Formats: sequence, C-alpha cells, structure tokens
Amino acid sequence: MKKIVVFTGAGISVESGLPTFRGSDGLWEGHRIEEVATPEAWQRNPELVQRFYNLRRRDCLRVEPNAAHAYLADLEKNYDVQIITQNIDDLHERAGSTKVLHLHGQIRKSQSSRNANLVYDIQGDDLPMGALCELGSQLRPHVVWFGEAVPNMAVASSMVEQADVFIIIGTSLQVYPAANLLFDCKAGCQIILIDPNAKQVPIPANVYKIAENASKGITYLAELLTK
Ligand code: APR
Repeated sequence: MKKIVVFTGAGISVESGLPTFRGSDGLWEGHRIEEVATPEAWQRNPELVQRFYNLRRRDCLRVEPNAAHAYLADLEKNYDVQIITQNIDDLHERAGSTKVLHLHGQIRKSQSSRNANLVYDIQGDDLPMGALCELGSQLRPHVVWFGEAVPNMAVASSMVEQADVFIIIGTSLQVYPAANLLFDCKAGCQIILIDPNAKQVPIPANVYKIAENASKGITYLAELLTK
C-alpha cells in the first residue's frame, strides 16, 4: 500500500474558522505570537499566556473539521496515511484520521510546568491558574513554545523518510525545525504543496504546487495520486 505522509499547518483549519498565525497583522491584543508563546512569556506573565491559550481552546471547541480534514481521513480507505500536524487543534482526529502526530502539542491537554512528560486531558474550556500537576506545580498548556525542543521531531523525520508521497497543506514553512521535514523525503518521493500562497512558500522547484485553499486543492489529489 502506498505510504502517504501529510504535513499540515494552520492553513488547513482556516476554512473551519480558525485563523492562521501569520495572517492579517499577526498580533493578539497587541502582542506578537512570539511574545506569548515562549517560556519567557510564561515566566513573566503566566496569566496572560494562560488566557491566550484558553481563548484558543474555546475557538477550537466551537469549530468543526472541514472538507480537507474529511478528505484526508477518507484517504485511509486506499492508502497508508500518516498525518504530521503543526496544529494544536484536534480537527484531524475529529474528522476520523487515525494516525496523527502533533509536532507542536495539543490545546486540549495540559502539562506539568516542572516535568513535561506529565500530560493530562483538559476537561472543558479553561485551564485555570491554580490547577496543579501531581508534583504540585502549575499546569501549563501542552504546546511547544518558541525556543523549546520539539520532542516528536525525530519520529516525524523517520515517518517522512518512509513516504512515497509527501503532501504539505497550509503552512508557511517559516518555523524550524518543522520546516526541515521536507528534506527527509527519500529520492523519488512525490511532493505536493497545497496553499493559496504557494508562490510565497519557500520550497524547491521540483515540488508540485497547487495554489488553492485546502478544500479545493485536495480535489486535485485523486488524479495525482494514481499517477
Ligand atoms: N487553505 C490552505 N492554506 C491556507 C489557507 C487555506 N484556506 N489560508 C491560508 N493558508 C496558508 C497561508 O498561505 C500560509 O502559507 O496557510 C499558511 C499558514 O502559515 P502560518 O500562519 O505561518 O502557520 P504555520 O505554518 O502552521 O505556523 C507554524 O508557527 O506559530 C507557530 O507553532 C505555531 O504551528 C505553528 C507554527
């Protein structure tokens, strides 16, 4: 069975109603994302960081997977499909994809601020200040912040090395190390990019580019995959 690895970013969730990170002015209440999503921000002002992610979690819970998420789940009928997502939403899982690796964490989980291996489900919308892990330290969002290591990077790289087809959807490829995954593809791997701003995405010339929104772009895949 052909092995397809799909690498997704914020763009795939746009048509569900979740904004991208680097769209519009890129600010949240006057803060750049890099000023909220860092260990230093957490040290400086944990309430602000917690509020930012509580709002993101509320947004995530009120939206639904879109046609692109559904298409990728459906691909499992005919292909061995592995999703690697930079997104912290759970829209791939809710659409029915069974193999989803989150590179940058999951908004519906928390982790101990003392030991990142202690991870818990969050019940409901908010992770409040005062909620403690079993070691007695404050729970923080289970997300990988700028400047932190990406624990799932090695396993993601080995998944990409196995791919016959590598499909990239809705990512600006501005954030490393995730953006390096492309270079783990074996020789002869078919690489396809779907992004309305495909021309702006820094990508080698041999990549097949579909300059469309995710839901329209995926409709071109059927023909490409049978080639
Ligand atoms: N369909 C597909 N792609 C879209 C759509 C759409 N409807 N709308 C926008 N896009 C594309 C944009 O053209 C852009 O290339 O989605 C991409 C979104 O890029 P970013 O906002 O940079 O998001 P992403 O690449 O996922 O960010 C990577 O950075 O902020 C951190 O950790 C965070 O995981 C995130 C990482």
